[in-house]
Amino acid sequence: MTKVLVAYYSRLGTTEELARQLAARLGAEIDTIRLPSPVYAGLAGFWRGIWHALRHHLPDIACERDPVGYAFLVVGSPVWAGRLSAPVRAYLARFADHIGPIAAFWVSGSGRAYPGLALEIEELTDRVPLTTSSFGRREVLEGTAGDKLDVLARDIRAHF
Ligand SMILES: Cc1cc2nc3c(=O)[nH]c(=O)nc-3n(C[C@H](O)[C@H](O)[C@H](O)COP(=O)(O)O)c2cc1C
Repeated sequence: MTKVLVAYYSRLGTTEELARQLAARLGAEIDTIRLPSPVYAGLAGFWRGIWHALRHHLPDIACERDPVGYAFLVVGSPVWAGRLSAPVRAYLARFADHIGPIAAFWVSGSGRAYPGLALEIEELTDRVPLTTSSFGRREVLEGTAGDKLDVLARDIRAHF
């Protein structure tokens, strides 16, 4: 069976909720991208998050699993300032040279598509994500993201 890893960062829990639901659909293992210090907590952290996303800053991150040991990586990120969140950028930058096929999803407050995040992932990893999906925070909180998650899981499975 193909070993799949769903790795995500979540500041407020929305991306985490989707990552858990997706991992359950895929029978995948899951890993949280963590920050050794709470750099993005509170209002100051919010503004720092915007600044870091715009500046492509790579914060210190920690994770438990090595994505190198997996045949397929799915990354989940909140949208920050229309871009990848800084912790997910740092994760992809760290492992870019060692990962295989990749898929991604992202969650925003507005629910817009934000296709630029797929390009960011491609630039960082030199790989075109095989499939991507964008979600809005509201559909996650209201529990109406299930159909889109089913489609994403099916599209990911079609690649292994
Ligand atoms: C630093 C920061 C920047 C954000 N920028 C955007 C944005 O450009 N567009 C948008 O629709 N939502 C934006 N949001 C809202 C988040 O994308 C949204 O709340 C998301 O669901 C948060 O995911 P999380 O709960 O996993 O942290 C931003 C949130 C933060 C903290």
